Amino acid sequence: MKYYFNPNYKLIDDKNKVVLLSRYSFSRKDPRFEGDIQFQTFIHPIYASLLAFFKGNDLETTFNEIHTFFGIPLDVIKTQLLKIINNKEQQYIDFEDTSIVFPEHTIIASNHIIEEYEILDPESFLNFSEVDINPSRTSKPIDLTLMLNTKCHTNCIYCYADRRNKIDCQISDARINEIIIEANQLGMRGFDLIGGEVFLHKNWYGIMENLIKYDFPPFVSTKLPLTNIQIERVSNLKLPELQFSLDVISPNKLTKLLNINGEKYLSNIKVMFENLKHYNINITIHTVLSKDNCNLEDLKQLYEFLRNYNISVWKIDYVQKSLFTREDFSKIKVSVNDVVSTTSYLRGLSQLETKFKIQFSDIISQKQNGLIKAKDDFLFHQSRSCPANVSSFFILPDGNVTICEQLFWEKEYLIGNVKEQSLLEIWNSDAALTLYNRRKKIENKESPCYSCEESNYCHSNSLVCFRDVVFSYGFDNWDYPDPRCFKASKPIYDLQ
Ligand SMILES: C[S@@+](CC[C@H](N)C(=O)[O-])C[C@H]1O[C@@H](n2cnc3c(N)ncnc32)[C@H](O)[C@@H]1O
Ligand code: SF4
Ligand code: SF4
Repeated sequence: MKYYFNPNYKLIDDKNKVVLLSRYSFSRKDPRFEGDIQFQTFIHPIYASLLAFFKGNDLETTFNEIHTFFGIPLDVIKTQLLKIINNKEQQYIDFEDTSIVFPEHTIIASNHIIEEYEILDPESFLNFSEVDINPSRTSKPIDLTLMLNTKCHTNCIYCYADRRNKIDCQISDARINEIIIEANQLGMRGFDLIGGEVFLHKNWYGIMENLIKYDFPPFVSTKLPLTNIQIERVSNLKLPELQFSLDVISPNKLTKLLNINGEKYLSNIKVMFENLKHYNINITIHTVLSKDNCNLEDLKQLYEFLRNYNISVWKIDYVQKSLFTREDFSKIKVSVNDVVSTTSYLRGLSQLETKFKIQFSDIISQKQNGLIKAKDDFLFHQSRSCPANVSSFFILPDGNVTICEQLFWEKEYLIGNVKEQSLLEIWNSDAALTLYNRRKKIENKESPCYSCEESNYCHSNSLVCFRDVVFSYGFDNWDYPDPRCFKASKPIYDLQ
């Protein structure tokens, strides 16, 4: 048997620590292997070095190599590392006065050689002086998303994006290539593209080709019915995943939700999906449920339709509130009853369906998404941490950089511009660091965070989502708790 550090994870050297995280951004993974799609933690560099030894040899050879390299007794090596081989659940390993968490299936066994396996050098992680694996901001960005334009083929009533100005990309192709190269040199994990409509950028093919060349297979979501020529080009690129957003198949509802001619749009989608079949391209479908389509009849029709095509995953989410949604949110939000009935239908369906995976917002992710408030500190501490300005940022089509993809051009949250600055300059800019540090010392006595004894833990683990705070309490109240926090007061603007 051959043992490998799971290709669905990645190690990023970050000065006094190593980031151990899922290999791909946007919750993706190589389907050939097990692995957690949303894992991220800091580990001691020695553990990164140990993991690098698992490159396809058998266990005895690997343990002996580690023993020779570090001089650690074989029984100690075995006691520590056997816990994280083919482990079905996360495992904790005690190191000095702390405990390090490892993801499920950290090391995997394979009975054949894994082609194109990226061999890591165990020594490359050992140039550290002082180690600090406490939660903190990474010294360089880990992920970024580039918004190529705010133009679309459709004009969806529920859209969260700030598309008040319809603009094309104002960053030159040459500059985009430089940024891709810098991201690669920084050893970043993710460089993704978003719109508006990515396929309306005149050089979408060139940009995607370069991203793939520099090891950033991009996540792309579209609502544009792609032509045969576009599909042929997508096929040439061998994009690992393409997402098509489709909410409903009733032509009348498509017309209402997307502001297009629903009949024509549906027939173009059918042609596109047939062509995708021809090229053997599997796609992910993303469905957003809002008032008009959050019912069993529309979901069943959509499900029967999707079964005819090459679908790998069907993701279903409930519409979220944004500052920029054109429609009054109360007119498009879903009711609790509709959530309960659709969730129960989808739960049953996901157990029966064998052609594709069905992913939907169960109660736990609704809690994480702020739909349900945590009742105690335990639940809040379990909730998702916010990566904005902690490990990721977002580039707008005019080159401005904001910390969060949903804050768009809100001035306070802009930290630089890629037309004039490098990625690392922006990451280490005064604007970025000031924003990161300002929640550490909250001076507003009205905010429950002011006197909260959890403040340190909460801040260092980035439990507060900037977007949710300002969407819930207004921009002036940026220093209020995350609305999911057990100490938070009722939001002024309800997110639900
Ligand atoms: C903003 S769009 C950009 C990519 C492309 N224009 C598209 O629609 O697929 C990314 C995804 O967010 C979804 N989306 C847009 N507004 C939303 C909202 N208010 N709540 C939940 N999802 C939303 C879209 O349906 C799409 O799947
Ligand atoms: S959801 Fe996508 S296609 Fe629809 S308006 Fe927003 S960005 Fe454009
Ligand atoms: S959000 Fe504020 S009140 Fe809630 S735990 Fe964090 S610091 Fe405390």
